[in-house]
Amino acid sequence: MSRIPLIAGNWKMHKTVEDAEDFVAAFLPLVQGLEGVELALCAPFTALGPLVDSTRGSKLQILAQNVHQAGSGAFTGEISAVMLLDLDVHGSVIGHSERRQFFGETDEALAEKLVTLLQSDLLPILCVGESDEQREAGETEAVLQRQVDAAIAPLTGEQLAKIVVAYEPIWAIGTGKVATTEQAQEACAFVRSRLAAKDAGAAEQVRVLYGGSVKPSNAGELLAQPDIDGALVGGASLEPTDLHGIAAAAVA
Ligand code: PGA
Repeated sequence: MSRIPLIAGNWKMHKTVEDAEDFVAAFLPLVQGLEGVELALCAPFTALGPLVDSTRGSKLQILAQNVHQAGSGAFTGEISAVMLLDLDVHGSVIGHSERRQFFGETDEALAEKLVTLLQSDLLPILCVGESDEQREAGETEAVLQRQVDAAIAPLTGEQLAKIVVAYEPIWAIGTGKVATTEQAQEACAFVRSRLAAKDAGAAEQVRVLYGGSVKPSNAGELLAQPDIDGALVGGASLEPTDLHGIAAAAVA
């Protein structure tokens, strides 16, 4: 089964609308001739509408960084899937470790968010990953198993095949400390084995991304691993040339 690699930039809380427009004006010409890779930007809510408009007809998909699981209601400060669809947004990252750590995102809420996104035909990128202490304690697989199993529990096999999972060891996020290719491959293969425990056919279709200090200089080796189908890129996605370098490495 050949899976088309996905390179997704995660801007986190960076870039005004003007900054975002400047980015795509520089980035789109760089990636125009790039075939065999899917490209996405996970942007702040405020930039989503303008970005969707300025990338229409291009190969760049625009995603949010979070979505609420409910259809509507008294959830001050939250954004629903319908609101994302209203802007023609393509999907959303969910369960990023920063949201788990600072905003109390739970595995149970993520299971609901996955269902909400899939029912709305939006692409979910579910993030999972262990902390430094958990890796040191030999708990990496137990943590990944708990996070993956809980999130995908309500999905049918057909729904499972449509998700993307990003393995992001917390100790490698924004630290410049990238996982070794062996560590990244091993963890991504383990994530896939958990998907396969639910539905083997679907697991072969799911893109499993690696995230954590991915740069143009280390992307090639990571992306060459059999179970790494792309990257979720934070810091290096803020510069058009860096994100292009990573995307080019995915098809090299
Ligand atoms: P980083 O962030 O590339 O800056 O390490 C990755 C992420 O948090 O998605």
